[in-house]
Amino acid sequence: HGLQCGFCTPGMIMTAVDLVHRKGHDLSDHVIREELEGNLCRCTGYQNIVASIAAGAKAMGKSDLA
Ligand code: FES
Repeated sequence: HGLQCGFCTPGMIMTAVDLVHRKGHDLSDHVIREELEGNLCRCTGYQNIVASIAAGAKAMGKSDLA
């Protein structure tokens, strides 16, 4: 449920991957929200976007993707 219409999703994913590379895999909601500040979701799905990024960051820490 990290996306609704998907319009903002490419930018959210690019921001999230960069965030994980810079700040690691254990990200607080506060840090994620601060880093997403310039990304607008016109569907206002921020709560699930933040949860998805936190889950994705943790999953990336368990694989060779990061
Ligand atoms: S999911 Fe529609 S703009 Fe973000």
